[in-house]
Amino acid sequence: MKLLSRDPRLICELAFRPLALVFWSILGAKALNNGLARTPTMGWLHWERFMCNLDCQEEPDACISEQLFMQMAELMVSDGWKDAGYEYLCIDDCWMAPERDSKGRLQADPQRFPNGIQHLANYVHSKGLKLGIYADVGNKTCAGFPGSFGYYDTDAQTFADWGVDLLKFDGCHCDSVTSLADGYKYMSLALNRTGRSIVYSCEWPLYLKPFHKPNYTDIQYYCNHWRNFDDVYDSWESIKNILAWTTTNQKEIVDVAGPGGWNDPDMLVIGNFGLSWDQQVTQMALWAIMAAPLLMSNDLRQISPQAKALLQNKDVIAVNQDPLGKQGYCFRKGFSM
Ligand SMILES: *[C@@H]1O[C@H](CO)[C@@H](O)[C@H](O)[C@H]1NC(C)=O
Ligand SMILES: *[C@@H]1O[C@H](CO)[C@@H](O)[C@H](O)[C@H]1NC(C)=O
Ligand SMILES: *[C@@H]1O[C@H](CO)[C@@H](O)[C@H](O)[C@H]1NC(C)=O
Repeated sequence: MKLLSRDPRLICELAFRPLALVFWSILGAKALNNGLARTPTMGWLHWERFMCNLDCQEEPDACISEQLFMQMAELMVSDGWKDAGYEYLCIDDCWMAPERDSKGRLQADPQRFPNGIQHLANYVHSKGLKLGIYADVGNKTCAGFPGSFGYYDTDAQTFADWGVDLLKFDGCHCDSVTSLADGYKYMSLALNRTGRSIVYSCEWPLYLKPFHKPNYTDIQYYCNHWRNFDDVYDSWESIKNILAWTTTNQKEIVDVAGPGGWNDPDMLVIGNFGLSWDQQVTQMALWAIMAAPLLMSNDLRQISPQAKALLQNKDVIAVNQDPLGKQGYCFRKGFSM
C-alpha cells in the first residue's frame, strides 16, 4: 500500500504474513474473555482535543462537562458517526470531583456534571451509543484526581452501577511495576465480577517503559486494548514517532493483536489543526492497517466536510474492522513517489 507521505523514513509497504496466520489459527488468541472488542473499538475520546479544561466560566463550550458529552452524543447520531461505526463516547481524565464521597465512591465534579454520570450514561444509551469512563491504577490520576488504588472493587462496582460500558485505566502515580501489574490484573477481574460488559482499555505496557519488557501474553489475557507508546498530539511529529515505534517493535506486538485484544496507538487527531490533508489521510490509513481502536479526538461541532468524509470512509473502516483481526506490519521501508 502506498502512503501519501513524502517522508522516506515513514514509507512502508504493508502486508499480512501468511505463515504467522497459520500459527495463529493453531495456537488461538488468548484475549480477554469478555466477548467484547471482537473488532477494534470505535468511538470518540475527549483527551487530545479538550484535555483537562476545567474552566466552564471562560470556556463553557470546551470544558470537560456533561454538556460537552451530550452535544457530542447528539452529533454522533445526527451526523452519521454512529452509522459509520463510532459507538463509544468516552470520557478521559478530569471528570471527577477532587474527593471521593462519604462511602469512598468516586463522584463526578458537581458543577461540571450536575446530573452525575449515571444520568449521562442513560442519555448516551438512549441515543444507541455506549459510554466510556476513565480512572487510574495508582494513587492519583495523571491530572491529580483520586486514583483507584485501594478501591478497585468499589470503583468497578460504581462504574457498573452507573451503566458505564468502557473503562480507560491509566497508569500514573503507581510506585512499582509489581503494583502496576497487580492493579491492572485486579481491575480486570473486578470488572468481570460486576457482571456488566465493560471494555477494558489499559495503559499497562506504556508504564513499563523504558526499563521493563511487557509480557503481552499476560496483557492480552487481562485487557481488551493496551497503549504501548506515548500520547498522541496534534502534530505530524507525534504521528511519525508512533509509527516509528510500532515498526521497530512489530515483532513483539503485531501477532498479539486479534479479536478481543488490540494494540492501541492512541487517538485519531483528524479534523483538528496540526495535520495537513495528506497527513490526515495517512493517519487514517495507517490506523486502519494497524487494527487500531479508532477513537477520534476532535470537535464534532466544527469539523470540515473533508475530515468527516475521511473518518467515515466505509472502505478504510472495513479494513480496520475486518473480523479476522490481523494487524498489518511494515514490510519494507523506502522512497515512494
Ligand atoms: C499508594 O500510596 C501508598 C502510601 O504511600 C503506598 O503504600 C502504595 O504503594 C501506593 N500505591 C501505588 C499503586 O503506588
Ligand atoms: C467473566 O469471565 C468469564 C470467564 O472468563 C467469562 O465467561 C464471562 O463472560 C466474563 N463476564 C463478564 C461480564 O465479562
Ligand atoms: C508471561 O506471563 C505468562 C502468564 O502469566 C507466563 O506463563 C510466562 O512465563 C511469562 N513470560 C515471560 C517471558 O515472563
